[in-house]
Amino acid sequence: MVRDSNIKDELGNTLSPGNPATDAIKIAPVVIVACAELKKSGCFRGEPVTDKGDSWYMFDVALAMQNLTLAAHSLGLGTVHVGAFNARKAASILEVPEGFCVVEMTPLGYPDQEGRVTPRKELSEIAFHDKYGS
Ligand SMILES: Cc1cc2nc3c(=O)[nH]c(=O)nc-3n(C[C@H](O)[C@H](O)[C@H](O)COP(=O)(O)O)c2cc1C
Repeated sequence: MVRDSNIKDELGNTLSPGNPATDAIKIAPVVIVACAELKKSGCFRGEPVTDKGDSWYMFDVALAMQNLTLAAHSLGLGTVHVGAFNARKAASILEVPEGFCVVEMTPLGYPDQEGRVTPRKELSEIAFHDKYGS
């Protein structure tokens, strides 16, 4: 959890050029930066157990951040998943140790505008019975 204005500003500067979340990262009272320990999730004795290799930490962080954003929403707070940024630079700013990485961040605060809901696909387009595509 980052509350320091200078650090929030530095984090904001790691976002991709023109990233619409930049101002929110710099201005929000709190920025939550989700980190993961490498070679843990989906691994046994430091070795990946599945064909996904050492990438299950992305799954775990996504679940945690999804829960966090939903909990924030239920309290009237605004968030936005921010993934388009230089994660190595962010890790260096936050002095994240070796063996851990930065995955995503979100600003947290009272929203100054209403979010837009993306149109969803019909369930029939993405849910299949017995075999993929049927
Ligand atoms: C993995 C991931 C990374 C994202 N990165 C950014 C980002 O860097 N900047 C931004 O403004 N929004 C980002 N978003 C938010 C999306 O632009 C979008 O607002 C949000 O996902 C809601 O739309 P959806 O329900 O269709 O996913 C990201 C979303 C996801 C899932």
